[in-house]
Amino acid sequence: MTDDGSKIVPLAEVYAFVVRCMGVVGINEDDAGALADLLVSADYRGHYSHGLNRLYIYIQDVKSGTTASNAKPEIVKETIATALVDGNNVLGPIVGRFCIDLAIKKAKDAGIGWVSARNSNHFGIAGWYGLRAVDSGMIGMAFTNASPLLVPTRATKAVFGTNPICVAAPAKDGDSFVLDMATTVVAYGKVEMAHRKGEMIPPGWGMDASGKETQDPGECQCLFPLGGTERTSGYKGYGLSMMVELFCGILSGSHYGSNNRIWKDAQEKADLGQCYVAIDPAAFEPGFADRLSDLMNMCRTLEPAEGETEVLVAGDPERQHMAKCDKQGGILYHPNVIKYAVRHQPNCPQLNHYLTFIFMWNHVLHQAGVILKT
Ligand SMILES: NC(=O)c1ccc[n+]([C@@H]2O[C@H](COP(=O)([O-])OP(=O)(O)OC[C@H]3O[C@@H](n4cnc5c(N)ncnc54)[C@H](O)[C@@H]3O)[C@@H](O)[C@H]2O)c1
Repeated sequence: MTDDGSKIVPLAEVYAFVVRCMGVVGINEDDAGALADLLVSADYRGHYSHGLNRLYIYIQDVKSGTTASNAKPEIVKETIATALVDGNNVLGPIVGRFCIDLAIKKAKDAGIGWVSARNSNHFGIAGWYGLRAVDSGMIGMAFTNASPLLVPTRATKAVFGTNPICVAAPAKDGDSFVLDMATTVVAYGKVEMAHRKGEMIPPGWGMDASGKETQDPGECQCLFPLGGTERTSGYKGYGLSMMVELFCGILSGSHYGSNNRIWKDAQEKADLGQCYVAIDPAAFEPGFADRLSDLMNMCRTLEPAEGETEVLVAGDPERQHMAKCDKQGGILYHPNVIKYAVRHQPNCPQLNHYLTFIFMWNHVLHQAGVILKT
């Protein structure tokens, strides 16, 4: 335990906890395992906005019946390199796992696999899907639309979601480029995390309901596009977000733009659109991984600017966070993240019990000196 009450929880415990919670609401072990792997991966990689912090929305959607618990995604039509998938309204990671695996299979045959999905749900960190392709030696891309939170340049009302982009690629010796980013200034979950910790958000992140900039996370209703205002080229983030929508909602025939349900609305089915791509580098010039490693090292070996210690490439901050977790024996959670998870799942009796168990178990290990203090 640290001075602010944060606690270190081993990855396996977080995983088992998520599987149990989803089991309580009727999700089978395999599907619950995929969701657990996704959420643990988010926290492990340092994206706390999309780990345990998001568990309650999956539980809520399954409990309310707006997400189906007993269906499977299916292919609507396909060519050798493409497929249109109906997610049949199951959990986003189940649709996503099906689609990226299909894209990888097609890329093995055709050099590229491009899969468009409709009738899906929130899929968590886009990086989880890109990395699945990297594990098969492929370049992986993943995109999703989402509830409206991005206010287009010159407007005051949100139309687009935080519509993330992931492009991940295998380099030499297990290294990889992993760009995984929202097309808003940040993921909205970072605003929620600031709220939970009682912190203000930096200038340039978000706006209140009237479209006025705010640093109060409790007032922040929507976000600036990546780049910020028009003066700082926010129209590029706005354009990228529309590009994601084109690949997702428009290509698949799902909801799009402000037709998407409002954030956290468990009354209505989400019908999100998503896009998953795998590209086999072997279909192009040999030596891809060597050249990518060389390029990444051109950046990493640059002289850092004054006050900085090192130059990173996309994927490095997450690698550093994972190394820190490994060293300390698990994921460090702010106490309010745990409290929030408990408070929002009052009808899940095993949850309180299980969290208490984690706390106690962790405390025992800590007392025994097994867990390092950060
Ligand atoms: N499912 C959804 O609807 C949804 C929506 C939005 C975001 N997300 C997820 O939220 C997560 C967080 O998104 P974000 O945009 O806030 O991420 P972020 O701003 O923390 O990081 C974005 C990217 O920048 C890279 N990066 C960070 N610092 C760097 C540096 N100094 N040098 C080089 N590269 C650097 C990271 O490796 C990452 O690839 C992502 O995993 C994203 O997929 C999901």
